[in-house]
Order: sequence, then C-alpha cells, then structure tokens
Amino acid sequence: MRRPIIAGNWKMHKTVAEALALVRELAPQVAGEERVEVVVCPPFTALHAVAQALAGTRIALGAQNLFWEEQGAFTGEVSPLMLKDVGVKYVIVGHSERRAYQRESDEEVAKKLTAAFRAGLTPILCVGEQLAEREAGRAETVVGAQLAADLTGLDGAAVQKLVIAYEPIWAIGTGRSAQPEDAAAMAAFIRRKIETAFGKEAAAALRIQYGGSVSPANSREFLTQEGIDGALVGGASLKADSFAAIVAAAHK
Ligand code: PGA
Repeated sequence: MRRPIIAGNWKMHKTVAEALALVRELAPQVAGEERVEVVVCPPFTALHAVAQALAGTRIALGAQNLFWEEQGAFTGEVSPLMLKDVGVKYVIVGHSERRAYQRESDEEVAKKLTAAFRAGLTPILCVGEQLAEREAGRAETVVGAQLAADLTGLDGAAVQKLVIAYEPIWAIGTGRSAQPEDAAAMAAFIRRKIETAFGKEAAAALRIQYGGSVSPANSREFLTQEGIDGALVGGASLKADSFAAIVAAAHK
C-alpha cells in the first residue's frame, strides 16, 4: 500500500517568524491524520528554525532545491549534506519554475536526483507539460521525455522510493487545475513508463502526486483518483487551515 503524501511548496514565501507561526498552527491540525505523510518545504533560510519547531510533530521537512555536489566552490548553492544536516528528509527537484527561471536542464535534474539519493534524501521530482503541448496532444510525449532524461543513472531500488509530482505548467498558480481524469491518466502513463524502465516493483511502490492549483475545494477529486497518491500544493499550503483541509481530504 502506498502511503498518501501531501507536500507544501512554500516557494519564495515566509520569513523565519512567519514560517514558525505557520507550522505551529498547522501541527495540531494534522496531528490526527496518521495515514497521511505531511511535508512542508520552506525556503532555505527558514529550514533550520522550522526543523526545531517540527520536532515531536508528525510533519516532515522538505527543501525546494539542492546542488549536486557535496561541497566546494559553488557560490550560492546548498548541498545535499547541508540539507541532511538541518533535518531535511524530502527535496523538490526540477520544479517548472526552476526549469523556467534558472534554465534548469534535464541533465542537471538527473544529477540532483542522484545526489539527493546518495545523501539519503527523498526527491520529489516535478514533471509536466505546457498548455500548448497539451493542446497539441503532446503531453505524454513531453512528460515521457522528461522522465527518460531525468531518471538517467538511477536504478529500480532508488526509483521505488521516489515521489513524482505531475504538475501541468499551465495549472500552477493559475487557479485553473487539470481535470482529475486527465491527471489520473497521466499518473497511469508515468507508472507504465516506470514499469517498462525499472520494473514492476518500482512502479508499484513509487508515489505520484498531482500539483497545480490544488485547493481544499478540489483536493478530494484528485486524491480519490486511482494512482494519484498525494498532492504538491503551492498557494494553498501557505495557510494552515487550507493545507490541513487538503491533508484531511487525503486521509479519507
Ligand atoms: P500551486 O503551485 O498550488 O500554487 O498551483 C503548485 C506548485 O508549483 O508546486
């Protein structure tokens, strides 16, 4: 049985004080949802403080990015070991905003995935198509190519621990979510691709999230789809009430 995983991607939001206020409000609200894995991904500057505040709660800590080297002359980067050191368990890799604004390539994403696993972190790999690609009927081709490139160098033992977030780019932060059936169809496609490349066991264990304008109002529709094991939540993760409502929807 795959355990549902709801992760909050706070993006470039929250000072340390704001981050602490949010997790202190959130922790009691999700304390009863034992069946669901709950993850928050604050900005780097708040990771250490949030880690302390999460001690004794059942919320896990995630980061939004990492570099693929362990240390060295890489100004401005943060290594997997540094994340591990402050108590990070999950790390988002290849978010479409990084692919767009930082021109992050599939090759870099692949290096980051390998580095994350090497450090004992669990990556949440983001894949997804642009609107024009979906409208041209190319969504599966695009996502399939991303997977093939991004997972280069990984084996089945790693892939079965991986979390993949399917996030159609046009649905992120727009209030326009995908159709739940389309998201489920893409999740099934991703699982078939994984099975072909890494085997049945990896495909059965791997968790697939939907992301893109997930809200308390629509989360149940996604989370009840066959093969969707959770959600990567942006905007709605910035408030305790709305994030807790999404976690509750996954619990049912
Ligand atoms: P959103 O962001 O929920 O605000 O659409 C999702 C994401 O980018 O992970």
